[in-house]
Amino acid sequence: MKAYRASLLYFAAPESLPGQVTFEQDGLLVVGPDATGRQVVQAIGSYQQLASQVGSQYPGLQVEHLPGRIIAPGFVDMHIHYPQIDVIGSPAEGLLPWLENYTFPHEKRFSSPEYSAEAATFFIAELLRHGVTTALAFATSHPESVNALLGEAQRQSLRMITGKVLMDQNAPDGVRDETRQSLIDTEALIEKWHGVDRLGYAITPRFVPSCSEAQLRGAGELAAQYPDVWIQSHVAENRDEVAWVRQLYPQARSYLSVYEDFGLLRPRAVYAHCIHLDEDDRALMRSTGTAAAVSPTSNLFLGSGFFDHAGADRAGFLYGLASDVGGGTSFSPFHTMLAAYYVGREGQTKPGVSLKPQHLWWQHTAGAARALGLQGVVGNLLSGCEADFVVLNPQATPLLARKTSQAGSLDELLFSLIVLGDDRLIEKTVISQAGTA
Ligand code: GUN
Ligand code: ZN
Repeated sequence: MKAYRASLLYFAAPESLPGQVTFEQDGLLVVGPDATGRQVVQAIGSYQQLASQVGSQYPGLQVEHLPGRIIAPGFVDMHIHYPQIDVIGSPAEGLLPWLENYTFPHEKRFSSPEYSAEAATFFIAELLRHGVTTALAFATSHPESVNALLGEAQRQSLRMITGKVLMDQNAPDGVRDETRQSLIDTEALIEKWHGVDRLGYAITPRFVPSCSEAQLRGAGELAAQYPDVWIQSHVAENRDEVAWVRQLYPQARSYLSVYEDFGLLRPRAVYAHCIHLDEDDRALMRSTGTAAAVSPTSNLFLGSGFFDHAGADRAGFLYGLASDVGGGTSFSPFHTMLAAYYVGREGQTKPGVSLKPQHLWWQHTAGAARALGLQGVVGNLLSGCEADFVVLNPQATPLLARKTSQAGSLDELLFSLIVLGDDRLIEKTVISQAGTA
C-alpha cells in the first residue's frame, strides 16, 4: 500500500458527465493490491478528508509528498502504428502515395524478430516518456511483430492491445500476406495473447482496399467467434481512398457499410479517422457500438480532412483521441489535444466549435477508455482502476511555470498545459504492477 499527496485530476462522474474534470488541489491517492495482487486505486479524494481515515486504516502507510505536482490518469492512445516510428514526418501527396512510398517499404523490415524487438522496446519507452499507458496499436502483417510488441509490453506490465495486420491484396511483396494463412495466424495469436496479463488482441484488417473479400469475411467470422477481442481498421480517411472503395464495392451504401456487411462493426471495433462519413454512417457507428479513433495530427499532416466533432456528438457514437504515429506527427497527448482543438475551430462545422479543455482531456483518458470498453479499468483514477498514472510538473519550463502560475480557473490551467505541454511536462509515468495476492 502506498499513497501520494499532490494535486489530483480525475473524472468523478465518467458516465453521466463526460468531460467534467474533478480537480483536488491538495489530494491523496492511495494505491494497493486488489484480490489478484495487481496495483489498483484504493481511495482518492482530498488530503484533509482522507488522510486520517486512511492513516488509521493502514497504520504506517507510506505517503510520498509531491508539492506543486499534478497526478492524472495515464493517457490512452486509441490508434497508433508501432512500426511507423521512423515514418513520422514523411511528406507525400496524401495517404495513398504515403503508404506506397514510405509506409509499406518500411514495414517490410518487421519480418525480422530482432528488428521488431528493438522497435517495440523503443516504442514503449517513447509512449511512457509521453505519459501514454494504454495503446491500441497496429503491428505489421508479420506475426513476429505482434510477438515482439506484446512480449515487451508483458515484461513491462503495460496494458497493450495489438494485432497482426491483414493485407492480402494491393500491397507489395514483403508485407502482403496470404488469405488462409493470415486467418490461421490471427487465430493462433488470439489464443496465445488475448487476455494474458494486461494484453489484448485486435483483429486488424488494414483497410478495405488491402483486404480481399475472403479475408474480410474471415476477419468477421473470427470477430463473431471471439466477441471480447478488439477489431481495428481505418475508414473514410481520404477522398482518393473513399473513391477507390466505391470502385471496389459499387453496390455498397458507403465505405463504412462494407465493414458492416462483413460483421466488422460492433462494440470493441475501433476505426481510425471517420472523416468522410454521412449521417447514415454516423447512425451506424452508434447503433453498432463502434468507436472512432480521432487522429488530428495525422489528418492535418496528410491533408486528409477534419473530424466532425459536432456530428459525432449529434449521433452519439463513441470516440476518443489518437496519435496515429507515423501519419501522426507526435506521441504527445498534449500535441494531439491541441490539434483536436484546432480542428474544432477550423473544421467541418461553421462557425467553428471551441472544444473545452476538460473535454479534450477526457477524450484522451476516460473517454478513450470507454470507447475501448475499458471504463473503470484504465483512463481514470476512481477506486478499482488500475494504477496507471502520470505525475505532471507544471513548472517544467519557464513559460509553463509563468503561465500556469497565473491560471485563474481550472479551464485556464488545463488549456495552458494542453497548449504549452509536451514530454517535459511528464515528470514520471507510473505503471500498475502485478504482484502475488
Ligand atoms: N490506411 C491504411 N493503412 C494506413 C496507415 O498505415 N496509416 C494511415 N493513416 N491510414 C492508413
Ligand atoms: Zn492508422
